[in-house]
Amino acid sequence: MNILIVASEAAPFSKTGGLADVCGSLPVELNRSGNNCALIIPAYKQTLQKGFDIQDPGLRFSAPVGDKTVEGRILKAVVPGTDTPVYLIYQKDYFDRDGIYQNPDGSDFIDNCERYVFFCRAAMETIRLLDLKVDILHANDWQTGLIPAYLKTEYRLYPRYANIASLFTIHNLAYQGSFWHWDMNLTGLDWKYFNMDQMEAYGRLNLIKTGIAFADAVSTVSPRYALEIQSAPLGCGLEGILQCRRHNLYGILNGVDLNAWNPETDPNLAQTYNVSTWREGKRACKKALLQQLGLHEDLDAPLLGTVGRLSYQKGYDLIAEAMRRIAPQHPAQWVVLGTGEACYQNMLLDLQNQFPNKIAVRLMYSDSMAHQIIAGSDLFLMPSRYEPCGLTQMYALHYGTLPIVHSTGGLADTVVNTTQQTLADNSANGFAFENDSIDEFTNCVNNALWTYYQQETRSTLIERGMKQDWSWSRSASQYVQLYEKIKH
Ligand code: ADP
Ligand code: GLC
Repeated sequence: MNILIVASEAAPFSKTGGLADVCGSLPVELNRSGNNCALIIPAYKQTLQKGFDIQDPGLRFSAPVGDKTVEGRILKAVVPGTDTPVYLIYQKDYFDRDGIYQNPDGSDFIDNCERYVFFCRAAMETIRLLDLKVDILHANDWQTGLIPAYLKTEYRLYPRYANIASLFTIHNLAYQGSFWHWDMNLTGLDWKYFNMDQMEAYGRLNLIKTGIAFADAVSTVSPRYALEIQSAPLGCGLEGILQCRRHNLYGILNGVDLNAWNPETDPNLAQTYNVSTWREGKRACKKALLQQLGLHEDLDAPLLGTVGRLSYQKGYDLIAEAMRRIAPQHPAQWVVLGTGEACYQNMLLDLQNQFPNKIAVRLMYSDSMAHQIIAGSDLFLMPSRYEPCGLTQMYALHYGTLPIVHSTGGLADTVVNTTQQTLADNSANGFAFENDSIDEFTNCVNNALWTYYQQETRSTLIERGMKQDWSWSRSASQYVQLYEKIKH
């Protein structure tokens, strides 16, 4: 099958979060299993500065954006280490800036609607200019929400596009691409589509809704989240249209890219390990991490780690409060790696100042430190308020680091709380709490800390998580089934 995936970020070219991990690995896995898949992403400044082998074959195009005609270029590369083609859309004014979506002060670029209208137009033009054979056009998140709409309206008239089916995947419904109604003019689409069943939501242009409304099928990144978004609050105001589309709404869990996240081969680790050698391996990783962080080298005290965007979604206020409650009376140590909102940064830095021997906070983006924390910690904290899928808990499971999660979305689909019953039926692989409350979270952390000292149970849990199949091959085959279903 011929598949074209379009996304606003893909690892290793550009990344702000899990969307990039998914869009960097899914195309490769689809090709590995005999499909013909290519990827289209923007050529951001950071993408071009990373030293990848990116060719400029001289492909120029222009696309209408409102009443302007904007010129762009299509650059070519492959996903490193594979022959999966990547087409990068270059447009100096839109993409040659510091930051992907935001200014350094954390505010969104004022012209984000215009930038991604252009990107969606560019993706449509790439098909024509490169004469790509496409059965499935797979768009992801609001930045590409116009693609299913262009396919069903303007481009439908051209034979080249008439037989292309579209899948729209929601990675995070809270980010909707909601702009003032006059931005409708930028899209070039008729105002008749600006209605509550298609492109309008609460008086504004809504690009994630546009993708949901026009795609042949819609998917999200876990089965649980696919259910949760059909009602408030996780429907984020779009539960109505999602209910309407429920017969074409699917949940497919993300996978782990075993080339990038494999404790047996990970070049970032002080010592690599597998399910038979995790005791020595993880201990060496923990020792190196504690040294690097300047924490007390107490290898027997549990180390709790977390890596993520410092945002309301990820529950960093819960993490801070749990540390405040537990740190004074427990030898456990804590490490937090993250970038994001100032209020969480301050909360975490305060705690680091109060407990400098026990708490290390690193406010930066570091891929290698993310790997070292996921390998070197004993427990991994993820009390997300909501979580469409979540990748880091799967990385943690794969690295033998027991996750502590709020039972929501993909966290509920991947982590089974440890109880007498789940130990007896061999399903327990971590710790989970039901309600988004500080008391429940603190109890859950305390339970995990207690279990840490129960050597036999702890080993059983670690080895179960490490042996589970989190690979992309399982998820990719579900995408293929869905593509087959919607193919014209
Ligand atoms: P989300 O996409 O909501 O941010 P995921 O768990 O799906 O959450 O994916 C997050 C990805 O971003 C993971 O690969 C994680 O390691 C990475 N990540 C997040 N914050 C940082 C950071 N500060 N440094 C390095 N990697 C990070
Ligand atoms: C989003 C979600 C996260 C998911 C990722 C990749 O960023 O917040 O849960 O894992 O997309 O699908």
